[in-house]
Formats: sequence, C-alpha cells, structure tokens
Amino acid sequence: MTFLEVEKVSKSYGSNKAVEEVSFSIAEGETYGLLGPNGAGKSTTISMIVGVLRPDSGSIRIGGRPHGVGNNATKAQIGFVPQELALYPDLSAWDNLMFFARLYGVSGAEARRRCGEVLELIDLADRARENVSAFSGGMARRLNIGVGLLNRPRLLILDEPAVGVDAQSRNAILESIQRQAAEGVAVLYTTHYMEEAERLCDRVGIIDLGRIRAEGTQRELVSQVGEDDTIVLSLSGGTERAVLALKKIPQVREVSTEGSEVRLLVRDARSTVPLVLETVADSETVLRSVEVREPDLETVFLHLTGKALRN
Ligand SMILES: Nc1ncnc2c1ncn2[C@@H]1O[C@H](COP(=O)(O)OP(=O)(O)O)[C@@H](O)[C@H]1O
Ligand SMILES: [Mg+2]
Repeated sequence: MTFLEVEKVSKSYGSNKAVEEVSFSIAEGETYGLLGPNGAGKSTTISMIVGVLRPDSGSIRIGGRPHGVGNNATKAQIGFVPQELALYPDLSAWDNLMFFARLYGVSGAEARRRCGEVLELIDLADRARENVSAFSGGMARRLNIGVGLLNRPRLLILDEPAVGVDAQSRNAILESIQRQAAEGVAVLYTTHYMEEAERLCDRVGIIDLGRIRAEGTQRELVSQVGEDDTIVLSLSGGTERAVLALKKIPQVREVSTEGSEVRLLVRDARSTVPLVLETVADSETVLRSVEVREPDLETVFLHLTGKALRN
C-alpha cells in the first residue's frame, strides 16, 4: 500500500528553482532513495514532506490523506532525521531522548519505555548515561536517528544520515533502517553515496538540479545505460589536455573528472581501452592506474547528467 505520495512538488528560492515538479511515492515497508549531489534539492524536498516548508505548487499525501504545514495528524506519523545533528551535547543520550519524547507529547513510564526501546534499536543502551559531547561522530549520528524513531513513525525520513561516519557506525545505521522497513515503515533516504543507495534502497530516484531524472530499481536504472561501461583512469598532472583528447574518441560518450581521476563512459570497454591508453600515452600525463567497471548507479548518473555524482 502506498503510504507517501509526492506529486509535482516545486520550490524556488528567488530565481533558483531548487525543486521542480518532483513526484514519487513510497509504499509501506519500502525504502526509497533520493540519490544526487550536493545542491540537487534533496533537503528542500524533504523539508516540504516533513511539513516545515510550504511547496510553491504540487501536493503531498500521507496515508492517503492530504498533508501540509498545518496538518498535525499526518505530521505525527513522520519520524525525521535531519542532515545536521539536532542534539544537546551537554545532556546524556538518555536525557536527550527523554527531552524529545516530551516534545512529542510522551511522558512518564511510556517515555521511559520508548527511550529504552530506541536505545536498543540504535545499539547505544550501554552508553545511555554518557554525555553526547563524549560520543564519536557515528554514535551521535545513531542517537540522531534514535530521536527520529521515538514517535514510532510509519514514515521515516533520513537526510544523509551516514555522512562522515566510520564504517562500523554506517553498518549499524543502515541495519537499523532495514529493520524499520522490515516492520512495515516507509523509508525515505537521501544520499550522495551510490553504495548506500545500492545497499539499502528498493527503488532510487536520481535527482539533479531540482529534478528527478530517472527512477526505478537499481536493475531498471542500470539497464537504461544499456551496454555502457565505465573506464576509470588515475592520472598525474596534465589531466586537462588528456581529457580534451579523450573526448575526441568516438566510442567515448561522456567524460568526467574528479581531481586526478578521469571517468569515461564507453560503449564497449574491451575494444576501447587500447585506444584510450594510446591517447593518454600521447598526452603529457602519467597513467597511474586503469580500471574497467560494469555499469552501476554512478554510471547511470554520469549517463544522465554528464557529471560525476560526487563533486
Ligand atoms: N534556505 C535557502 N535559501 C536559499 N537557497 C537555498 C536554501 N536552501 C537551499 N537552497 C538552494 O536550493 C538548492 C537545493 O538545495 P538543497 O535542497 O539543500 O540540496 P541538497 O540537499 O540536495 O544538497 C541549492 O541550489 C541551494 O543552494
Ligand atoms: Mg541536503
């Protein structure tokens, strides 16, 4: 059953069209990823769904009911984990959770029960009495997620919740989200990390410059780029001239650079690699490594936008 329906939602800041006619829906138990680079419009989209920002146009339905800035009944079904940590560093994990529980209108024994439940979910039960200021970045992120779970939401919205955390915390975060989805919660997850979207999301919307450029399961999205492969070159110096020469190779469809790394989208890597190596050898750069990758979501993004996901 569809739980969240976003229909042609738009938001501009002055002349900047931050979000343009974005539509998608999420079913109960489904995890939907918004994958896009910084500035794509992910947080703005989320702010409208959470109900802190009014769309210029378009509509949002939650559980089949119209949802908006003033609608507290639908808002109560949302758990929101913001991009920036929203915690009190001088309070313990427990006191932070109790504070937010009261904010949600839950107190007494019920609040204590929920805080205990949440601490288990985010695997911080043994650190409950420590001040958040003593927490690692990953632990603070997990507690931030815990706050979003206090009201037992049916729609859990997380805005880049795993940015800058260690691998162990990232795993714990992704697993706690997967458990929520398994309980039937509809999950909206934004990220600019392809790996997270691939691992977590049933469906992904690729967002860039305020628009959803493509949507589907990972398999559906990858099939859109057809037989394209990615060749990743690591170069040292003289990258610009090499890129100009590489763009002239007919089999090369897209070229993007990220520091000393150059990514080429090519029709058929096997037949193109020799030509690519020859071209690099003729330019004034040193080739450090070459790698051929099967198409993944990064390839899809490059194909759709002509640029790398991480900028
Ligand atoms: N409060 C704001 N005022 C003006 N412009 C904003 C504001 N918030 C976001 N923007 C702009 O809207 C666009 C989308 O931003 P955002 O939704 O934060 O993207 P993302 O979360 O994908 O990084 C960007 O161009 C950003 O600069
Ligand atoms: Mg953002």
